[in-house]
Parts: sequence; C-alpha cells; structure tokens
Amino acid sequence: MKKKTLLPLLLGGLLLVAGAAPAGAQSAAADNEVVRTIMARRSIRQYKAQPVPRELLETIVECGINAPNGLNKQPWQVRVVTDPAYIEGITALYLEQNPRAKEDKNFKNMFRNAPAVIFIASPKDGSGQIDCGLLGGNMVIAAQSLGLGTCCLGGPIGFMKSEAAADYLKRLGLPAGYELLYAIGVGYPDESPAAKPRDAQKVRFID
Ligand SMILES: Cc1cc2nc3c(=O)[nH]c(=O)nc-3n(C[C@H](O)[C@H](O)[C@H](O)COP(=O)(O)O)c2cc1C
Repeated sequence: MKKKTLLPLLLGGLLLVAGAAPAGAQSAAADNEVVRTIMARRSIRQYKAQPVPRELLETIVECGINAPNGLNKQPWQVRVVTDPAYIEGITALYLEQNPRAKEDKNFKNMFRNAPAVIFIASPKDGSGQIDCGLLGGNMVIAAQSLGLGTCCLGGPIGFMKSEAAADYLKRLGLPAGYELLYAIGVGYPDESPAAKPRDAQKVRFID
C-alpha cells in the first residue's frame, strides 16, 4: 500500500484510539446526496429579490411536518408569510425602536433580509420545543436541496411578541396555548458564507 493511502487510515485509527469522533460526514459518505446537502447548508442573510415559488414553500413545510415528533402529537403551528406588506410593515415598526439596524447598508428587513418567513410556534408549556426543532431541521435541509437558503431566527421573536407588534402577531392566528418559538427566513441566496468551525471533540463514541 502506498504511503499516501495509508496516512488517512493511520489518522483515523489514532482518532478512534483517542476516543474522538471520526473526521466527519465528508469522509464517511462524500457521495451521498443527503449528506452533501446537510454539509453544504449555511445560514443565509443576503437574498436575491426573486420571490420563493409557493410550491417550493409547500414542499418545505411538508418536509417539516414529516419530522419525527413525540407520540405523533405534532406540537407545532407553522405560518408561512410571503406578503411583502407584512414583512415591510413589521420591519418599519421594528426600525422605530431599533433605528441603528438601518446603518447596515445591506439591511432590507428584520428577518435577516429574507423574502419569505416561516414562523414556528410551540405549546406555551415548553413541551414541543424538541419537536419544533426537528421540524425546522427538516425544513432547512429541504430548502437547501431545492436551491434555497435559510436562516433560523430567534432574534426577532422578542419584538414579534412585544406590544408594538401585537397586530402582526394576531395576524398569524395562533391558537390559544401556543407561542412563537422561532422563525426561519427563506429565499434565494445572494451570498455563499464559509462554514463556521464545528467542534468534533464534543462527540464521543462509547464502543
Ligand atoms: C435557534 C436558532 C436561533 C438563531 N437565531 C438567529 C438570529 O436571530 N439571527 C441570525 O442571524 N442567526 C440566527 N441563527 C443562525 C445561527 O447563527 C447559525 O446557525 C450558526 O451561527 C451556525 O452557522 P451556520 O448555520 O451557517 O452553520 C439561529 C440559529 C438557531 C438554530
């Protein structure tokens, strides 16, 4: 065996001996489309003006609600907002309280500039948060596979729940007992950010 082919094996062996996670999904299944899609996804904060076709949003939410969830209780509410008047209107209110946001020359709206926003609400008792996270995980990967970019958004939720935004929250028509948990901005990416480093040391195999 040539030295070149031996080196990765030796390194892999060393990592396993040390109890560390193997080098990563890239090495395990580089030619697998789902793995490639997961590894290619990055949070997108700059989007093209092009609106997201309705059928793609429908596919994304369909993938979301097919996520695993405890006892199939589906403890979520999902609202897909594509109405520019909604996004611009609430952003205008947001800017009244956060005028400095406008200093960013790329600022288009308070949802990291996305032209479509998926709001995810969970039961107020906190019981559905894991399920809602899995729902969103499916959605961002589905979006990526369809050529769309996404950004999970916890930041805007505080403002969405504030008195100033009450009319906009009401328009989402959430049932009693549910509250907004997070949002996901969706659109055609206008940037290609590099992957942020991940700490593989947080993973251990107990063999
Ligand atoms: C629950 C949650 C909330 C987040 N909230 C925000 C947010 O308010 N604004 C933002 O720009 N990014 C937000 N992000 C995106 C993270 O910053 C991003 O996922 C992380 O830095 C890793 O980068 P990557 O998604 O490109 O791999 C959020 C992500 C998650 C999962």
